[in-house]
Amino acid sequence: MQPPRIVETLRLTLRPVALGDAREIYRGWAGRAKATRMMNFPRHLNQTASQAWVERCLRNWQEATAFAYMILLRDTGERMGSIEIALQGSAAEIGYILAEQFWGRGYATEATRALVDWAEAQRDIGRISATCHPDNIASSRVIEKAGLHLEGRLEDATSWPQLQRSNGPCLVYSRSFGGPRQPIEHAPLRLQ
Ligand SMILES: CC(C)(COP(=O)(O)OP(=O)(O)OC[C@H]1O[C@@H](n2cnc3c(N)ncnc32)[C@H](O)[C@@H]1OP(=O)(O)O)[C@@H](O)C(=O)NCCC(=O)NCCS
Repeated sequence: MQPPRIVETLRLTLRPVALGDAREIYRGWAGRAKATRMMNFPRHLNQTASQAWVERCLRNWQEATAFAYMILLRDTGERMGSIEIALQGSAAEIGYILAEQFWGRGYATEATRALVDWAEAQRDIGRISATCHPDNIASSRVIEKAGLHLEGRLEDATSWPQLQRSNGPCLVYSRSFGGPRQPIEHAPLRLQ
């Protein structure tokens, strides 16, 4: 099971990350202090780190385990951020990040909804989840607007390398569909 390689929404195009994206990923968001502050991966220190991440994404696409997309503005083709949906059995997990200049215009919600809608239409997917730091109000809103509900707070469950040395708390959001259910092992997505 694999989501479509190209996903079109009203304002966005999602397409698989590619080797030629590493520079933009590093400069636009993965290497930026503000964008990565509440992400669960260490900020990329150079373009090589972003390149390595893209290479892992390509392997994940091949192995059909996780599907990382670039989020492009449909009108201009500008690369605004990335979004990933990971599959483990009948469970899907989603994560995203945008360059700061594109925040606050509903783009993350639009991209997230498109992948949640895809997941919901799959007979073999029974649940979709997303996690975020409890202080990440914008991300909580995106998740809620995409139709997921707060399931609970896990303590010391997630690594927040830009915020603290030890593990810290995270909020878990989810939505269940009619498809098969399975016990969930919590494994946050990592952009590293
Ligand atoms: C989280 C992120 C993806 C949101 O992207 P976005 O395109 O700005 O999101 P949207 O515009 O779709 O929605 C943002 C919502 O959060 C709200 N919001 C943003 N900042 C907020 C704040 N400080 N306090 C309260 N609400 C806030 C907005 O008002 C909006 O909600 P509304 O539509 O109800 O008004 C973006 O801020 C980002 O990339 N952050 C850094 C990376 C990150 O944290 N990723 C998520 C990791 S779990």
